[in-house]
Amino acid sequence: MYRTKFYLILLNSGQFYLMNYEHTPVLLNEILAFLDARPGQNIVDATLGGGGYTSEILNKVGSGGKILAIDLDQDAVENYKLQITNYKFKDQIIVAQGNFAQIDKIISHHKFPAPDGIVADLGLSSYELEHRGISFKTDQPLDMRFDLSQPETAKFILNNYDEQRLRKVFEDYGEEKFSRQIARRVVGLRAKGEVIKHTADLYQLIVEALPKPVKHKADDSARRIFQALRIEVNHELENLKDFLPKAFDLLAPGGRLAVVSFHSLEDRIVKQYFVGLTKGCVCPPEFPQCLCGKNPKAKILTKKPITASAEELKKNSRAQPAKLRAIVKF
Ligand SMILES: C[S@@+](CC[C@H](N)C(=O)[O-])C[C@H]1O[C@@H](n2cnc3c(N)ncnc32)[C@H](O)[C@@H]1O
Repeated sequence: MYRTKFYLILLNSGQFYLMNYEHTPVLLNEILAFLDARPGQNIVDATLGGGGYTSEILNKVGSGGKILAIDLDQDAVENYKLQITNYKFKDQIIVAQGNFAQIDKIISHHKFPAPDGIVADLGLSSYELEHRGISFKTDQPLDMRFDLSQPETAKFILNNYDEQRLRKVFEDYGEEKFSRQIARRVVGLRAKGEVIKHTADLYQLIVEALPKPVKHKADDSARRIFQALRIEVNHELENLKDFLPKAFDLLAPGGRLAVVSFHSLEDRIVKQYFVGLTKGCVCPPEFPQCLCGKNPKAKILTKKPITASAEELKKNSRAQPAKLRAIVKF
């Protein structure tokens, strides 16, 4: 239903181009169940993407409710604005380009009421995967930005970071065993005057950097290195760390926060933040009475993270790593 949509977009130059914004929502039924949006409520979709969640949530909140849908990617924003031109509840939606790390400023700018629910489906859309040089499966310029107005691309990082810094990015965000060899190869090529411009250049140098016995596993290393660069380019983990406490503070009492993550680095941040909210008194056990006055602020709704059903995985293999966690605010 959501997969392929083509739109003619009018550029400022007066030319047209064809946009095919493609994304199949992941864990959609589960998100709807945990968010539990009701008629008249105000919900924020912090990662609009193809609008798969937003459209369904809109049907739940109906004509009395409101949605603020945010995305860093201007293409996602333009695509969705076009998608809803004939939509019955379109006046109930605000579509905003922005970073969910600044959700507080975006909400206040749009005078949006305290949300009853906030959802974030982290990472990237299928459209971005196919158009931004994020995958080594197709040869494209090494860009990787969700927000094309931001200056730093993957190409910039590969051609400017020093060896130590590159190695740290590969280790921290890709957990790649051969980070040292790959960082050294990047810097070695640069010393010879080569510029690493395309996904195929990066893939090739990864193959060359790997020791012979593991060269046949080059795709696994490439997946990790490409992920690491994408996280670095888009400041994904910093944005998530900024977003969570702001989103939670903004929620109305009884409001719900649901987050879908796609790798262990993100999931760990979400899990730790949610667990922290459930903690009460932190006074040492030898204290006769509580002096810190801390009370639990939320209840976790997902004891274990929710993952995709076998039925969903049959239709969409990209749902494989997805993990949904949700809380309700007291
Ligand atoms: C997995 S897609 C969302 C798909 C959406 N739930 C749907 O059903 O179509 C993730 C989206 O989050 C956006 N995104 C990533 N980081 C962001 C950030 N810091 N702020 C706002 N949007 C972000 C990406 O541009 C991408 O469009």
